[in-house]
Amino acid sequence: MFTKKVGIVGVGNVGSTLAYALASKGICSSIVLKDIREDVVQAMALDISQAANAAKSHTIVTAAKDGSDFKDSDIIVITAGIPRKPGMSRDDLLLINAKIMKDVIDDIKDNAPNSIIIIVSNPLDAMVYAALKCSNFPKNKVIGMAGILDSARMSHFIFDKLGYGAGQIQASVMGGHGDAMVPLPNYSSVAGVPISELLSSEDIEDIVTKTKNGGLQIVKLLGTGSAYYAPAHSTSLMVEAILHNQKKIYPCAVLLEGEYGYENIVGGVPVMLGSNGVEKIIQLDLNDTQKEQFDKSISSVKELTNTLDSKFFNK
Ligand code: LAC
Repeated sequence: MFTKKVGIVGVGNVGSTLAYALASKGICSSIVLKDIREDVVQAMALDISQAANAAKSHTIVTAAKDGSDFKDSDIIVITAGIPRKPGMSRDDLLLINAKIMKDVIDDIKDNAPNSIIIIVSNPLDAMVYAALKCSNFPKNKVIGMAGILDSARMSHFIFDKLGYGAGQIQASVMGGHGDAMVPLPNYSSVAGVPISELLSSEDIEDIVTKTKNGGLQIVKLLGTGSAYYAPAHSTSLMVEAILHNQKKIYPCAVLLEGEYGYENIVGGVPVMLGSNGVEKIIQLDLNDTQKEQFDKSISSVKELTNTLDSKFFNK
């Protein structure tokens, strides 16, 4: 039987909203949810399965008893990890989440060695790096979700400024998923019209700043966590592009080996997603300022991966 199976590790807000999006649209035939909270994962599987039935979707949603339920998954999405708590340094958080990532990856290697892995856990780029090194999977099969989310945030702020164009805005963000991300106004347009022809440079500067702070703005307002609708929807687009071999171009966090002049580092760049995962990395001709910003963004990722190399992988 032709089936498409998606595993989701970590059914907090992002994982469960992703499962809901995939199931209600019938993007795959089966979704298996896994979480350390056994009752919660069963509740989520029941609730989302019932939502799928309400939507008359064919997608079957179940809770995993153990890693073996991931057998034959086409894609596994990892959202597992803890958020930073008071008193915890960035490195503490990094090392704790790297350990969680390693355990999850061991499970995947044992049970779904041919799957494509999508990482959503933070710190995003460093977690993609950790997943690559722990899994030894080829680089086209370990992909981080961030650029689609950051670009969606930029589209939102462009609309906010213009007051029109919703649904016709194409925005572009590259670099790491952190404060130093690189929004690209000159690759952003409304129905094909460059935003520089619609907005002043002050307005564009403001959009860039708001995009960089987009995640934090929601964290501050919520007070109890971070965004999940836009992260989940962005992840569902990646799942759909891969399962349906759409060959769509999306900004994703991938291992760079020579592209943009970087070696052995993860960064957000436009890629083509199809059934083999990352099928192509698109190299944009960045101007000097953008190159400088991209370099700064990659350097902040490098600091984290250097810590992983020295304190986690003991290199
Ligand atoms: C975001 C974080 C949490 O919402 O990655 O951007």
